[in-house]
Amino acid sequence: MCGIMGYIGKRDTVEVLLEGLRRLEYRGYDSAGVAVLVDGKVEVVKTKGKISDLADVLKDRKPEGRVGIAHTRWATHGPPSTKNAHPHADCKGHIAVVHNGIIENYLELREQLHAEGHRFRSETDTETLAHLFEKYYQGDLEKAVRRGLKDVEGSYAVVAVCDGDPGTMVAARQHSPLIVGLGERPGESFVASDPSAILSFTRRAYLIDNGEMVVVTADGVKVKTLAGKPVKKSVFHIEWDPGMAERGGHKHFMIKEIFEQPHALRETIGERIVGREMKLHLAELNLTDAYLRRVKKIVVIACGTASYAGMAGQYAIEKVCGVPVIVDVASELQHRECVFDKNTLGIAISQSGETADTLLAMHMAHRRGAKLLAITNVIGSSVARAADGLLYIHAGPEIGVASTKAYTSQILATLLFCVHLALARGAIKPAAARRLLRGMKKLPGQAEEFLKKEAGHIKRLAKKYKNVMRYLYLGRGAHYCTAMEGALKIKEIAYLDAEGYAAGEMKHGPLALVTDEVAVLSTAVEGPHYRKSIGNLQEIRARGGKVVALANEGDEEIRKYADDVIRVPKADEVLSPVLAGIPMQLYAYYVADLWDREIDQPRNLAKSVTVE
Ligand code: G6P
Repeated sequence: MCGIMGYIGKRDTVEVLLEGLRRLEYRGYDSAGVAVLVDGKVEVVKTKGKISDLADVLKDRKPEGRVGIAHTRWATHGPPSTKNAHPHADCKGHIAVVHNGIIENYLELREQLHAEGHRFRSETDTETLAHLFEKYYQGDLEKAVRRGLKDVEGSYAVVAVCDGDPGTMVAARQHSPLIVGLGERPGESFVASDPSAILSFTRRAYLIDNGEMVVVTADGVKVKTLAGKPVKKSVFHIEWDPGMAERGGHKHFMIKEIFEQPHALRETIGERIVGREMKLHLAELNLTDAYLRRVKKIVVIACGTASYAGMAGQYAIEKVCGVPVIVDVASELQHRECVFDKNTLGIAISQSGETADTLLAMHMAHRRGAKLLAITNVIGSSVARAADGLLYIHAGPEIGVASTKAYTSQILATLLFCVHLALARGAIKPAAARRLLRGMKKLPGQAEEFLKKEAGHIKRLAKKYKNVMRYLYLGRGAHYCTAMEGALKIKEIAYLDAEGYAAGEMKHGPLALVTDEVAVLSTAVEGPHYRKSIGNLQEIRARGGKVVALANEGDEEIRKYADDVIRVPKADEVLSPVLAGIPMQLYAYYVADLWDREIDQPRNLAKSVTVE
């Protein structure tokens, strides 16, 4: 997490940096700062708080110059404060650095540098970089950075500037995202954590890989390895347009993104289901049918919401393809001896494509011989580049920290793959595959209809239950994921206590939590688990709990077992989690809004978690 931005050029440097930081603010928002080269001197302005606070400070003290770097922070080492905000400078303020990642041996380095006479001002791991570069600086910033990074263990995307080399930015990447924007105006270049930061200035970029360094001057961009060997990069064209990352009249990005789901789902399908005969065409999949037939096990690698999308995929793949699927959060997966081999397919699901735990688990899976399919939103992201095959979800930029449209699009992409896998393995009849694909094509329209009909009702329910402080979210089978995701949403943005649970497991513990002060949101859509779900609802009501049920249109019986009912359109069981996810998002959103929470930037969280 943390967002970094750098600029060389003739525009108003501080304005460019602030614009980039605003786009990156979803990566962290506890403090921010800029460093600009002014008349051959490094000037640093930073503050605790959000980008708007930094912009206020900069109104009175705006450094003017042609080269600058900037940072928005999500604290890892040292609490949010002005002192710990980036950029960090060396002892004499000649060098300034911004950094995303974690310097794992920073304590050791810090002690050593301290013993050598360096004086530290912050509690961050990043400051060691500034002092290391100072230690090795002998009139050439590039050499100092290269030498300094040799001493470093951990992950970084780092950008440094220096008053001895006032027309140069030096950046490097190891396991944290970094791109270089190639400016449209002469002599202009950008460095940034991701494409959204530079969207309004250029759509042409170099994607920097691990172990690469970049030297940026007004004369252009040179990419080299950390060892100094020149690297030839090809230009990457960013597809998103800047308007996609605006709120467009909505109060929050989150609600905008919830309502964008019909469009996002349509984009996920795109040209992948062709013609009346419903031919499935997954262009970048890059996994042969022969390989897919050999697959004996699938492991979903993901974190947070993406892992719940993976659970929906697990249910579908096991049911439709008969292939065993394991889903575990990547932070656990990479630290246990999960069995990956050449007959294991890892499916990495990640909206940002930059989540550190997901990437590390992917590398582990690769080392052990597995092949990897990436389901991601960000084209050219690290997850995309680390995989053998790809399925982009094409949901468009997601800015709200709590994932919404990416979740439903991730499920849909996984379902597309599920049908492809089933066909490759002969696990499904063509007619059954067509039925599922036809069902998928209906989902965007159903989502649209649902949003039109039910959003107002869900808003009213949020009001009715506003004072409920404890929630239990229950689901079974295909909807276990819906329960988990529903609970996560309300925790993330409304800060309310919520447990997501497998409905059948409730009697082994969570039932003890049920009182008349608890509300239970439970899925009870038609399908093989309907009766059992009803049974659970009765158990809850017998103990005084309030029940809001997610049920299909036309189900009148459900009224006997629920205080309130949210109607979701009917879909095949394995497809239905796409639709059931939407009311969970809306409910959490409206409750959080009533509590006046900072919905797009919930406390303590960040959208892209690029540290372990
Ligand atoms: C963070 C975000 C979540 C997201 C998770 C995984 O926790 O706040 O919304 O689900 O990371 O992110 P990814 O980009 O890998 O999907």
